[in-house]
Amino acid sequence: MKVLAIYGSPRKKGNTAKMLDAALMEFPGEAEIKRVYLGELNFSGCCSTRDCKMLGYCNVNDDLQQVLKDMIWAEVIIFGSPSQFADVSSQIKMLMERTWWMKGALRNKIGGYVITGRRYIESTINTLHAFMLRHRMILGGSGALGYTFTEMGGLEYDPLAIRDAHATGARLVELYDIVYGKGLSNK
Ligand SMILES: Cc1cc2nc3c(=O)[nH]c(=O)nc-3n(C[C@H](O)[C@H](O)[C@H](O)COP(=O)(O)O)c2cc1C
Repeated sequence: MKVLAIYGSPRKKGNTAKMLDAALMEFPGEAEIKRVYLGELNFSGCCSTRDCKMLGYCNVNDDLQQVLKDMIWAEVIIFGSPSQFADVSSQIKMLMERTWWMKGALRNKIGGYVITGRRYIESTINTLHAFMLRHRMILGGSGALGYTFTEMGGLEYDPLAIRDAHATGARLVELYDIVYGKGLSNK
């Protein structure tokens, strides 16, 4: 079971990371889990040259190249994003743009997400759904929300956040079983 966890907040140990860590706890011991912290990488969004249309791959040479490979490697991809100005973080958005060339490569991978924030989170959810559905991924679970705004308190003020993050992880394992028939889920 190959799992890629994409930490999308610039804050490595913030609310979003705690939610993603909780979701990952639901994966069985034999799962191979790669954790990518986008805030530690240097990369840009799409340069819009359209070179990838001709080449069949993204030729922007930066830290994201390894992440793009990791996405193709993974069977399960789980995103963690804070809501920032009513959408996913710019790091997650740049990553999304850079997958434009990947038509078909993410097809049928199991995808899920955890997010944090408390206002205008609908578009954050919508962006994540649109990304996964456009790539024909299997969207797992309803996602988990950590109802936070750091300046007014963190996850400790939302008793459902960590529980829902665990439920998201468990649902992705359950879906993995349905797709791959490995019997790893507790459900
Ligand atoms: C630039 C910026 C924009 C933000 N915009 C929103 C927003 O539109 N809606 C919201 O609910 N929270 C917003 N927040 C608050 C964060 O989503 C919230 O504090 C989140 O828990 C931070 O996650 P982290 O601890 O993983 O970094 C914003 C924070 C920043 C830094």
